[in-house]
Amino acid sequence: MAIERDILSAKTPVNYDVEEAVLERYQEGAKEQQPALCCATDYHGNYLEILPDEIIAKDYGCGDPTRYIEPGEIVVDLGSGAGKNCYILAQKVGGIGKVIGIDFNDEMLSLARKYQQEISQKIGYNNTQFVKGKIQDLKLNLDLVQAWLEKNPIRTIEQYSKFESYCDQLRNKSPLIFDDSVDVVISNCVLNLVRPQDKQQLFQEIYRVLKRGGRTVISDIVCDEDPTPAILNDPDLWSGCIAGAFREDKFLKMFEQAGFYGIKILQREEIPWQVIDGIEFRSMTICAYKGKEGPSLERNQSVIYKGPWQQVKDDDGHILCRGERMAVCDKTYQILTSPESPYKNDIIPLPAYQEVPLEEAKEFSCTKKAIRHPKETKGENYQGTNTKQNLDCCSPGECC
Ligand SMILES: C[S@@+](CC[C@H](N)C(=O)[O-])C[C@H]1O[C@@H](n2cnc3c(N)ncnc32)[C@H](O)[C@@H]1O
Repeated sequence: MAIERDILSAKTPVNYDVEEAVLERYQEGAKEQQPALCCATDYHGNYLEILPDEIIAKDYGCGDPTRYIEPGEIVVDLGSGAGKNCYILAQKVGGIGKVIGIDFNDEMLSLARKYQQEISQKIGYNNTQFVKGKIQDLKLNLDLVQAWLEKNPIRTIEQYSKFESYCDQLRNKSPLIFDDSVDVVISNCVLNLVRPQDKQQLFQEIYRVLKRGGRTVISDIVCDEDPTPAILNDPDLWSGCIAGAFREDKFLKMFEQAGFYGIKILQREEIPWQVIDGIEFRSMTICAYKGKEGPSLERNQSVIYKGPWQQVKDDDGHILCRGERMAVCDKTYQILTSPESPYKNDIIPLPAYQEVPLEEAKEFSCTKKAIRHPKETKGENYQGTNTKQNLDCCSPGECC
C-alpha cells in the first residue's frame, strides 16, 4: 500500500549525506563512548549483570523493547550497535530461541562480535548472530557484497551493471533475512536514522520478514511537531537521533499503512529527552502485529466488546459496539480472541455451539458493523434447558 505523501513529508536534508553522517558518528561511537548519544534507559530484569562494561557503556538506545520478548522467540534487532539488546535477548529467548543483530557499521559489528564467545560461555549456549546489512534492505547480505567487491572492484559502467545483477541475485537466492521467518523485529533508537526516501521501504521490510502473527516492538525518538529546516539541515542533529525523528502521530500511521494491525503505544516518556526551538523530542515504544490479510469465512462466531468506550474500530474498519454480540468472520475472530491477541482483554469470545468445519465455511458477508442474533451462534434448532430444578450439582443442604 502506498504511504500517503503527507506522512513522509519530512524533507530530505539538502546539504549533507544522511547515511554518511550516521555511519561516521557511530564509527566514532564504537571506538569511544559518546555521552551526547546516550538517552538514559532502564532495562528490565538483571540481564545486564553478565554484560561487559564496554557494551553497557556504548549503549545508544532510547527505550527497552527487550522487556516485551518471550522465551523461544526468533528475534531480529535492527541497528544492533554494540549488541546490548541482542545479549539481553539471548538470555530471554533461551537456547531454543534465536537473535540476529543487523548493522551496517563495521566498527559496531566488530564490537558486538568481540564478546560473542565470552557471553555464550557465560549463558551456556550460542543463539546470537551479528550480520551486516542495511535495515531498509533486509534481503541484501552486505558481508557477501563486501567480499565480492574486494575481488571485483568497480571502475566502469559494465562492472557496475555486473555488481547490480550480483546484488539482485543475492536478494533473490540468498536473502539476509527470509520472508515470513521472524517472530519479532525489535529496534532501539535506529529507525529515525534512516534516510527519508528509504523510510517507506524500511517499514515494508519489517513487514516482509515477520511471520504471520508476528509482531514488531520499536523504541525510537519521536517529536510533537515537524522538525524545522534548520534542525533538518544539521548533520549532527540527524546522526544524534533528532532531525530524523518521526512526528509521533505519523510514526503510528507508518505501521498502519505498511499493513500492521493492533498498533499500540507501550511507553511514551513524559519528560522530553531534548527540546529544540520549542519542539519536544522524546522516546516512545510501540508494538504492531502482522497478519490481518486472508479470506473472510463464516463460522457463526461473535464477540462482545467489554467497554469502557461506547464503540471501537479495528484496523480493517470493523466497528464493535460495547456489550453487543458483533458478528465477525473466522479471521477477525482469531485476531480478536487468540491468546496472543493485543485485544484479548477487551473481548468476550462467543464461539458457535456447533463448530462449522473450515472446509465447509462459506464466505462471510462483511458489513463492518453487524450484530448477530444469539440463535445464529447457538444453532436454529438449539432447545437446551438447564434450570436450577433439573441441575443435580448441589448436595442436599447446599445451594449454588
Ligand atoms: C543510536 S545507535 C543504537 C544502537 C543500539 N540499538 C543500542 O540500543 O545501543 C544506531 C545504530 O544503528 C546503526 N544504523 C543506523 N542506520 C542504519 C541503517 N540504515 N542500517 C543498518 N544499521 C544502521 C548504526 O550504525 C548504530 O550502530
